Amino acid sequence: MSTDRSAAAAPLPILLLNGPNLNMLGTRQPEVYGSLTLDDVVALVERTAAEAGFGVQALQTNHEGVMLDAIHAARGAISGIVINPGAWTHTSVALHDALVIPEVPIVEVHISNVHARESFRRHSYVSPIAAGVIAGFGVQGYEYAVRRLVTLIS
Ligand code: DQA
Repeated sequence: MSTDRSAAAAPLPILLLNGPNLNMLGTRQPEVYGSLTLDDVVALVERTAAEAGFGVQALQTNHEGVMLDAIHAARGAISGIVINPGAWTHTSVALHDALVIPEVPIVEVHISNVHARESFRRHSYVSPIAAGVIAGFGVQGYEYAVRRLVTLIS
């Protein structure tokens, strides 16, 4: 029987959340969101997290309750959250309230520069509880978000 106590336990995974319509990345307004797909985003996040020794749990949903349930279930089971809340960014007090529950660092990502678009995109219900916000760097913003999250966790 192994008695090696020196091996560090694997860290809890990073939760990657993508909100409504982000399943359509690559097809949806490519002039705004680019041509990469959600699968590309997940692969990028997995690769970046793996470099730092973290696994990834990924969810995209178009149903707000599904996202809220997933956030509740993640309490105690994740190290931190990278979230692109999509349009719920600008509308959802419920998402704001749920994201506080796991008590882990959160990085908010937007593919587009929400501040250079319609005025309704300038308000975020998530930003007040996020450690930081990355917007306007395309899909690469997810990579920056993971790197920052890892720094915050470590
Ligand atoms: C978005 C910006 C939101 O305003 C929009 O509703 C989205 C995507 C982005 O990634 O740029 O669905 O979060």
